[in-house]
Amino acid sequence: MDYLTLATPDDWHLHLRDGDALAAVLPDTARQFARAIVMPNLKPPVTTVQAASEYRARILAARPPGCAFEPLMTLYLTERTTPQTISQARESGFVHALKYYPAGATTNSEFGVADIWRCLPSLEAMAELGLPLLVHGEVTDPAVDVFDRERVFLEGTATRLLERLPALKVVLEHITTREAVAFVRRGPPTLAATITAHHLLLNRNALFQGGLRPHHYCLPVLKREAHRQALLEAIASGGSRFFLGTDSAPHARHTKETDCGCAGAYTAHTALELYAEAFDEVGALARLEGFASWHGADFYGLPRNSGRVALRRQAVEVPALLDYGADALVPLRAGGKVAWRLETTAPAAPGGC
Ligand code: NCD
Ligand code: ZN
Repeated sequence: MDYLTLATPDDWHLHLRDGDALAAVLPDTARQFARAIVMPNLKPPVTTVQAASEYRARILAARPPGCAFEPLMTLYLTERTTPQTISQARESGFVHALKYYPAGATTNSEFGVADIWRCLPSLEAMAELGLPLLVHGEVTDPAVDVFDRERVFLEGTATRLLERLPALKVVLEHITTREAVAFVRRGPPTLAATITAHHLLLNRNALFQGGLRPHHYCLPVLKREAHRQALLEAIASGGSRFFLGTDSAPHARHTKETDCGCAGAYTAHTALELYAEAFDEVGALARLEGFASWHGADFYGLPRNSGRVALRRQAVEVPALLDYGADALVPLRAGGKVAWRLETTAPAAPGGC
């Protein structure tokens, strides 16, 4: 298959940042995706409906002219989040989920949750109102090996959360292990997972490919090849509880190429093309549309998009550097090529530019 079309996709896990950085990265996502679930880990984090409304307005203002891209907002769960905030979120119509960052797990997670059971009243309200909990599923105990943190989280907190709150919709974000794939498969219909392009395409050797490679450092950290194969198998199977979430996480070049570099891979620039490579690797291009354009919308209870995009098999060069406000940004595959070219077949509606 050298040419395929699919319903305009959505990105169910995206970091857009704010200010000049937002203006720099938003067109990359808006060119490909109709909607995106926007992560709330700003500084300070987006913890109230008011803050989400203001952030949403800044995103809408940063869209290229004529672009209908729709940001789907999230709130950052804290131990002080109240059931009243959950009701306001549901009533707003533009807040679609809450994000649970175990305190200290990743970028800007210091205001996150140390003890999830202190959030129980809010979680109960979310279950009742049908607002999903998006989970960064890694334990933060420094004694646990960094490559095991997802598995240990699933065996402990995630298992107990699902038992205690069977009606709560849960999305395990950016899963990276065969244990996570199995956990989702045997879980209830209220459980789903996003998978990134970089975890589908790279194993942990990529961190040390000819030297230390900071642009391959993200959280959860890349895993060994057997886990990548399990993720590929999950997408190839077409399971409806696996869907696209890039976790595209831009960081200025100098904050990654440094002594203690930030975690995050910037994939939004060629997101769909990278996913196409992964699906092609396992002969599953026919499954790309479900993963990219249907499963997420169905899980969130939102309409599927009506626009269409096309992918043509054709090598396209990826720039070595992108503009990032006053800084520079190094995209995944910088200076290399992706194997597909994205084409929009018609003015994409409701999103796309
Ligand atoms: C994300 C970021 O930079 O905001 N980084 C990352 O490595 N994925 C945070 C996150 O999603 O963990
Ligand atoms: Zn993320």
